[in-house]
Amino acid sequence: KDQVQSDLLALYADSAKMYQHILVNTELGEPALAYLHERGLDDDTIATFGIGYAPKNQLLLDFFKAHQIDYQLLRQSGLFIENQAGELRDRFVDRVLFPIKDASGRVIAFSGRILKKSPDEPKYLNSPETKLFNKRSVLFNFDLARGAIRQKKAVVLFEGFMDVIAAYRAGIQNGVASMGTSLTNEQIYMLERVTDHLSICYDSDTPGQKATDRALKLLGDNSRLNLNVIQMPDGMDPDEYLRSAGSEKFQQVFEDGQQTPTAFEMQYLRHDLNLQNTQDQLTYLEAVLQQLSQLSSNVEQDLYLNQLVQEFGLNKDDLRQQLRSLVGRQT
Ligand code: CTP
Ligand code: MN
Ligand code: MN
Ligand code: MN
Ligand code: MN
Repeated sequence: KDQVQSDLLALYADSAKMYQHILVNTELGEPALAYLHERGLDDDTIATFGIGYAPKNQLLLDFFKAHQIDYQLLRQSGLFIENQAGELRDRFVDRVLFPIKDASGRVIAFSGRILKKSPDEPKYLNSPETKLFNKRSVLFNFDLARGAIRQKKAVVLFEGFMDVIAAYRAGIQNGVASMGTSLTNEQIYMLERVTDHLSICYDSDTPGQKATDRALKLLGDNSRLNLNVIQMPDGMDPDEYLRSAGSEKFQQVFEDGQQTPTAFEMQYLRHDLNLQNTQDQLTYLEAVLQQLSQLSSNVEQDLYLNQLVQEFGLNKDDLRQQLRSLVGRQT
């Protein structure tokens, strides 16, 4: 159909091949390959995800020039940075490259990770939006995960590429990640078409919990997906936990650690409160009751009310009454 689009796809396919070759077969790629091995990725995994490396000295531009690729096409590709004079240079330099693929597995963008932490460069650098790449409607690994999502009737949403890849290595192959931003309605729609269960497994550090809270609200308002939350221990992200605890313990978290959204919220609401303090206790209880008032299941409400009774030594009838007044206020 669109000629430019298919030319761009060819360009990305060639770039991905080139970058992969550099990583796997050349001396230039050795530091990057060592970096990936260090992070626990074996050669099979590197091949499965088509990971590559853009070396320190630019080479993509020269490669395409040698193949007489049209300048206008190169400009539009997002693979290069253009200066005032219209001269191009490689966008990705000295970065490990994760190919971003569309739902049919065609490379449409890259995300490049820096090898060593640097104060003046971002950890991940993404391709800009192009005719191929609209980041709002792309999920990392959706192409590979789709079969497993259908089979398990569930999808796991991770924060980062390395988390998706770590989970994949540990046998959890129904994982995807949004593109470094909060979830979009386009992404929710893609997932709703293939499943009705979604687990949020973001980093368990403070920003990750905050993002989980936001995602739960977004998904609650904009989808009919059944939701739950999986959190790694000790503020870790899934990749860190897999490396520190091994795949058995990692899988265990997925089997035993599924929290309901309410259980997650009850725990999250306390993160900046001191429950030894009565004022904070009141704040907490009111926020939790507010949360519970939105539940449609009485059994589920009851479950959490019992927990509050236990923890705070409160009278259940009083809690119920307050809950009822909150429900009344909403209508
Ligand atoms: N991200 C980004 N740009 C950054 C930092 C993060 O686009 N400067 C996105 C990436 O998609 C990243 C995700 O946000 O995967 C989560 O961020 P973070 O938890 O900081 O990165 P990790 O995925 O843990 O990356 P790594 O394990 O490689 O350090
Ligand atoms: Mn179901
Ligand atoms: Mn994070
Ligand atoms: Mn992380
Ligand atoms: Mn990480």
